[in-house]
Amino acid sequence: MTTTAPLVCREIVVTYPDGPDRRTILDNLDLEVAAGEIVTIAGDSGSGKSTLLTVAGLLRRSDSGEVTIAGDATSGLSERRRTGLRRDHIAFIYQSANLLPTLTAIEQLQLVGHIRGHRPSTTRALAGSLLDDLGLGDRAHQLPAQLSGGERQRVGIARALIAEPTVLIADEPTASLDPARADSVAAILADAAHERGIATLVVAHDDAGRRRADRRLRLHDGNLLEEPST
Ligand SMILES: Nc1ncnc2c1ncn2[C@@H]1O[C@H](COP(=O)(O)OP(=O)(O)OP(=O)(O)O)[C@@H](O)[C@H]1O
Ligand SMILES: [Mg+2]
Repeated sequence: MTTTAPLVCREIVVTYPDGPDRRTILDNLDLEVAAGEIVTIAGDSGSGKSTLLTVAGLLRRSDSGEVTIAGDATSGLSERRRTGLRRDHIAFIYQSANLLPTLTAIEQLQLVGHIRGHRPSTTRALAGSLLDDLGLGDRAHQLPAQLSGGERQRVGIARALIAEPTVLIADEPTASLDPARADSVAAILADAAHERGIATLVVAHDDAGRRRADRRLRLHDGNLLEEPST
């Protein structure tokens, strides 16, 4: 029996309209992220990193190629099935945490539990313990405006983790943080990947964001190259 990695991208091609022509952004790109593995992607601005994450996260379709999530090939699926797979398996973290301004830290997490149909008591306990794990136990009842940038980002991570994702996708989660905070967020992501077995794909330019990765890749000319460890 072969086990399929939670996230597999095969021969992904993405082009965008460019005047009368089309420009190729991802050019037969292959990527696999194993359970419990954290992989970072660097690359020049405009090289296609965010595009790759949106394709891998089933937020947009590639022109050709196949994205397989938790063993399910997705290219032939309806939008409805893709949305279902995304909801059940994939969580996202962005450069700014995109928290809802009127909800406290713990309520941001409880909302996710509610959407997933979990019992309120179960969700409350899990949310509390996740916030504790991320060093936010005493910030649980603060609104986003009352939190620092690093704290907000950790709430965003807790919110992603409470969904118990198979695949976690993060677009520059450390870019807006100072080096110490960036390192702490990167360490939290790596620990979560390793301890919870989440296949984690992170766009990160900065050393702090990349140091904790199991593999470091660079997107160049539409393809991924292994970066030598420094
Ligand atoms: N919807 C779109 N239509 C046309 N072109 C697009 C679209 N989205 C992105 N692009 C172009 O595709 C290229 C890759 O964009 P992408 O956002 O993936 O780059 P990136 O590597 O994430 O860059 P950055 O580091 O600046 O975030 C860019 O040249 C961008 O202008
Ligand atoms: Mg980007």
